[in-house]
Amino acid sequence: MPVIELFVIAGLMLISVSIVWSTLKVGISPMPSSRKARNAIIKLMKDTGNGPVYELGSGWGGLALVLAKRFPQRSIISYEASYIPWLLSVVIQKLLRIDNLKIYRKDFLRADLSEAEVLVCYLHTEGMQQIADKLKDEEQGHRFLISSTFALPGYPIDRSVQINDFYKSPVYRYRFTNDADEGN
Ligand SMILES: C[S@@+](CC[C@H](N)C(=O)[O-])C[C@H]1O[C@@H](n2cnc3c(N)ncnc32)[C@H](O)[C@@H]1O
Repeated sequence: MPVIELFVIAGLMLISVSIVWSTLKVGISPMPSSRKARNAIIKLMKDTGNGPVYELGSGWGGLALVLAKRFPQRSIISYEASYIPWLLSVVIQKLLRIDNLKIYRKDFLRADLSEAEVLVCYLHTEGMQQIADKLKDEEQGHRFLISSTFALPGYPIDRSVQINDFYKSPVYRYRFTNDADEGN
C-alpha cells in the first residue's frame, strides 16, 4: 500500500478515535442541531437584549456561526470539549472573519459564565442536570437559557417552541430573575 494512503487511513483513524473518546467522556456526540431547531432558537432569542451569548457545547460550530451572523451586535462565546470539531469550527470562523465569535476548547462546566446574558445549548439529560447544579452553585449574571430538546430540571419554562420535525422536538427558554429585576 502506498505511504500516502497509509497516512490518510491513520489520520482518519485518529480523527475517529478522538471524536469517539470525547463523546464517551462528555456523554454526547458533536451532532449538529437541525435548521428548524436553529430557527426556533433564533425566535426565542427575541427580547433577550444585546448582551453576550454563551453556547455550551458548540460541536462543529454550525449554530455558533449562525448566531454570530444573525446577531452581529452581540458577542458569541462558544465552548467545545471535542478537539476535531473545535479545530474545524475555529478554522471556519477565522476564514470567514467572524469577529464577534470566539470558540474555546474548554469544558463549559469549568468556565466562568457570569458575563453571559443568554446561555444556549443542545445537550442531553445529564448535561442539563450538570448545568442546573452549576447555576445553583455559582453566582451568575445571565438572564436566559435556551435549550434545544432537553429541559432544565428545577426551573419553570418561560417560553417554548415546538419544532415541526418527526419528534415534535421542543426548544425551551428559561428566564432567571434576580432581586433587582423583582424590584422593578
Ligand atoms: C449535540 S452537540 C450540539 C452542537 C451545537 N450546539 C449545535 O446545536 O449544533 C453537543 C456538543 O456539546 C459538547 N459538550 C458536551 N458537554 C460538554 C462540556 N461539558 N464542555 C464542553 N463541550 C461539551 C459535545 O462535545 C458536543 O459537541
